[in-house]
Amino acid sequence: MKLIGGVEIDSIEKIASGKVREMFSFNNELLIVTTDRISAFDYILDSLIPVKGIVLNKISNFWFKYLKDIIENHLIETDVEKFPKFLKRHKETLKGRSVIVKKVKIFPIECVVRGYITGSGWEDYSKTGKIGDLKLPKGLTKCDRLPEVIFTPSTKETSGHDVAITINKAKRIFGADIINTLQAKSIELYLKASEYALRRGIIIADTKFEFGVTSDDKIILADEVLTPDSSRFWPLDEYEAGRDQHSYDKQYVRDYLLSTIWDRNSKPPKLPEAIARKTSERYIAAYENLTGQKFES
Ligand SMILES: Nc1ncnc2c1ncn2[C@@H]1O[C@H](COP(=O)(O)OP(=O)(O)O)[C@@H](O)[C@H]1O
Ligand SMILES: [Mg+2]
Repeated sequence: MKLIGGVEIDSIEKIASGKVREMFSFNNELLIVTTDRISAFDYILDSLIPVKGIVLNKISNFWFKYLKDIIENHLIETDVEKFPKFLKRHKETLKGRSVIVKKVKIFPIECVVRGYITGSGWEDYSKTGKIGDLKLPKGLTKCDRLPEVIFTPSTKETSGHDVAITINKAKRIFGADIINTLQAKSIELYLKASEYALRRGIIIADTKFEFGVTSDDKIILADEVLTPDSSRFWPLDEYEAGRDQHSYDKQYVRDYLLSTIWDRNSKPPKLPEAIARKTSERYIAAYENLTGQKFES
């Protein structure tokens, strides 16, 4: 199995290299390639996780299909065999980890949905009783299930951390109709997906969606959907409110990094091969448990 940490393709322009994915542009379309890179504690690690990019791409494509009745999405082609000829030459690199999508204008707003209270939401709530301007009931504990699913958008920043934005402010910037649509669709997508995942032993604590506008002015779902990179997945059988939860995918990585002398303020150390391998197995398990299908790379 070839590990993919970066991709170069002659004849088309790489327009962006994100933390995990690389984007190439041609005509009105994009080629998105998901690499095996992994981030932890906000750092991209030097180590690659075997087949992680394939797993992520397959999970995202699974959800696009499962959720297609709620909203149209950006997918054009997921099968490398059907890619244009000039891309098929790179089949060994692209196979399983690449999609061709409609290029859209992405709304610069991350549509965050939370069913459980953790991370920055928990930090806000424990100080103010609120997340943004949203008042929550008293007495919630760390990682508690929220009485109601909430929409807590943040702005999409090109560098550094995304910044929370109140729904009212988002409406002033983007217009109330658009924000109402993004909110309603985000919640509907989360509810359908999280109920499904729960039946398969995975809590999706929170997630973020990105939407964009097509050239014919339609709002569609873009980016990646409900992957372990864009969401928090917790194993249901280990869930207990009142404490931090085990991460379905990154637990070995986090535990390892915290066991070293790393100061969390500099480049993290390389992962031992066994940690990378065990983490890869966790990603594969997430895919198999979610979809009920055997993983094939
Ligand atoms: N259909 C699309 N059209 C245009 N841009 C897209 C589309 N789908 C995703 N994107 C953008 O491509 C980038 C994906 O790169 P990613 O690796 O996720 O970067 P990041 O580290 O910024 O999250 C994001 O900026 C996302 O908004
Ligand atoms: Mg991203």
